[in-house]
Amino acid sequence: MCGIVGYAGKRAAVDILIRGLKRLEYRGYDSSGIAFVRGDRIEIIKSEGRIDNVEKMAAKFAETSPGGNLNDVHFGIGHTRWATHGKPTTQNAHPHRTGHVVLVHNGIIENYQELKKKLVARGHQPQSETDSELFGFLVLEEMEKGASLMNGVRLAFDSVEGACSVVVMSERELGVLVGARRGGSPLVAAIDPEGGAILASDAQPLIDITREVIFVEQGDVVVGDSKGVHFFDLKSGAPIQRKTTRLDWSVETLSKQGFAHYMLKEIHEQPTALVDTFNGLLDLAKRGDPDPFPFADREVAKLLESASDIVLIACGTSWHAALLGKYWIERWAGVRVSVELASEFRYRQPVLAPQSLVIALSQSGETADTLAVVRQVNGLGNKTMGITNVRGSTLSREATAVLYTSAGPEIGVAATKTFSAQLLSLLIIAGHLGSKKGRKLEPVFDELLRVPHLLAGELAGTLASRAHAVAKAIAGYKGFFFIGRGYSFPIALEGALKLKEIAYVHAEGYAGGELKHGPIAMIDPNMVVVVLAPRDSWREKTLSNLEEVKARGAVVLAIGDPSDEALKQASHHWIALPEGARELDECWAPFFLSPVVQLLSYELALLKGTDVDKPRNLAKSVTVE
Ligand code: M6R
Repeated sequence: MCGIVGYAGKRAAVDILIRGLKRLEYRGYDSSGIAFVRGDRIEIIKSEGRIDNVEKMAAKFAETSPGGNLNDVHFGIGHTRWATHGKPTTQNAHPHRTGHVVLVHNGIIENYQELKKKLVARGHQPQSETDSELFGFLVLEEMEKGASLMNGVRLAFDSVEGACSVVVMSERELGVLVGARRGGSPLVAAIDPEGGAILASDAQPLIDITREVIFVEQGDVVVGDSKGVHFFDLKSGAPIQRKTTRLDWSVETLSKQGFAHYMLKEIHEQPTALVDTFNGLLDLAKRGDPDPFPFADREVAKLLESASDIVLIACGTSWHAALLGKYWIERWAGVRVSVELASEFRYRQPVLAPQSLVIALSQSGETADTLAVVRQVNGLGNKTMGITNVRGSTLSREATAVLYTSAGPEIGVAATKTFSAQLLSLLIIAGHLGSKKGRKLEPVFDELLRVPHLLAGELAGTLASRAHAVAKAIAGYKGFFFIGRGYSFPIALEGALKLKEIAYVHAEGYAGGELKHGPIAMIDPNMVVVVLAPRDSWREKTLSNLEEVKARGAVVLAIGDPSDEALKQASHHWIALPEGARELDECWAPFFLSPVVQLLSYELALLKGTDVDKPRNLAKSVTVE
C-alpha cells in the first residue's frame, strides 16, 4: 500500500517526485524518500514521517551541498510508505540502495524470511528490516553476472513470491528507469511530451505532465528513459505493446479548492458526483418507458439481466454500500442478493449457482481481497462485474464487465463521495432490473434528478452548520452508537466507521432491532446514541429504540425529517435532513443521511485534532490483505 513514482526526462525531477508523492500520500504516509542522479551518483534523501520532511531535507541539500541545484536533476524515483515489514523508521524508508542498485517497492515479498537467509548466506548485509531491500540484492546479483538492469529486474522476480511493483535504477545505467508489476500492486506509465517517461502507483502524479497514460498490466516490465517508455513481458523479456488511455481527470480536481481538507471538499462534491455518475452510467437517449434506467454499457446490462442471483462483495465502506444495494435490488427487482466481505468470501468454499453474478465494489479498484475474489470467481467460470471509481484500475481490467462511478478523484482516506456514487450505481442497477421485470419505476427516476439539488441546497449551509454545532456539544463523550433500521442501518455502520477512522473515537453501528440482544448493556450517560430516523417505514420502531436508550441515560442525537417534532422533542440534539427530502421515496434517505454522518465525523475529528485526510495507521488503497 505504498506509493511509488519515477521520472526520467528533461524536467526538474525532484519537484516531480515530491509533488507526485504528495498526491500518492493517501497510499501510505509513515515514511518517505527520494533518490536522484547527480553526476554519476545516485543520492538518497529519506525520512520517517510525512513527505514534508523529505521536501525540507531536499531544500537543505540544495542549499548546502556544492553544486546542489536540484533543478538540474532530471532522473529519480520516490516512495511513500505504509509499513508492513519493519517499523516506519528512516532506515526502513525507501528508496533502498544495494550497491549500485536503488529501488522503490510496493507490495509484499511473501518468502521474505527464507530469501533473507539465502542472501545473508551469500554475503549480503541488509541494512533495513524490510522485504523490499532484498529485491535490490537479487537485481544486483543478476547485474553482477552481466544482466542489463531490465533483465536483472526480470530475473529477480524468479526468486520472489507475492504481488508487488518495483521501480529500479542503477548507477551502471544512469538515465534508465525499470518498472515492473506482478500481481495486484498497480503501476501507471506515461510518455512526457517534452521527452521522457514517468511511472507511478496511480495516475495522479502524471496529470501535470500528460493525460495520456498507459496502465501497466500484471506481468509487464516497463523501461523508461528520456525518449519515452517501452514495454516487455516480465517472463520472456519479449517486447509488447500497450494501449494508451486518455484520463478525464484534471489537475484542478486534485487540489483542495479552498476547503480546509480534501475530505470536506469531497463531502461537498457529492451532488456533482451523483449527477456525473448518473450521466456516465445511463444512455439518456434510450431512456423512457419501459426502462427509465437504460445502461449505456450493453455488456453490463446483459450480464445483469442474465443473472439468476447477485453476490455483492466488497470491503469497508464499499461493503456498506453493498448492504444497501441488497435492499434496493431485492425490493425492486425481486432478485436474490447476498452481500459478502471479500476477506471472508475468498477463504470459504462459496457456493455459486451457474448464473450467479458476482459484483465487486471497490472505489479504488485495487483492494487486494476484493481482487482475489474476482480472480477466484473468474476461475470458477462465473461472470464478474466491477463497480469502481478508477478507470484502468485492476478491478476494471479483470472483471468480466465494469461499471464506473464518476465521483472524480477522492484523496481523503475516508471514502465519502465515492460511497454516494456507489449507492447510486446500485440503485440504478435495481431500477434497471426492476423495469425489465415490468415494475413502473419512472417516478424513482424523476426523484433521482431531484436528489443532488436538494442535497446541494443544504449541504454547505444548514447541514454543515448543524453538524458543527452538535459536534461541539457531544465531543467529550466516551463512545458512540449509531442506530438505524432498514435503509438507515448500513448508514449507521458507515457513520460508526467514519468516526472511528478519522476521529479515533470508539463507535459502533447497529440495526436498531439488535440493541436488546446485547449492546444495550453498554448504554449509560457517557454514551451518545446517534439515531438515524428519517420518515420511513421503520421510523416508529426506531423511535422505540430511541426511547429505550434514552431511558438508560444515553445522550441522543437524532437525525430526521425537519417536520418530525416528536423525534426532535425526544432527543437531546437534533439535525434535520433537507426540506423536501420527505417528498421523495424512502429509498433516497441514505443519500441525505450519509453526508450528515460524514460531516459529523469530520467536525468531531477537527475537535480531536486528528489528521482528517490521512488518519493514522490507514491507507486509502488496501493493496495487501
Ligand atoms: O477502494 P475500496 O472501496 O475497495 O476500499 C475498501 C475500504 O478499504 C474502504 O472503503 C475503507 O473502508 C474506507 N477508507 C473507509 O472510509
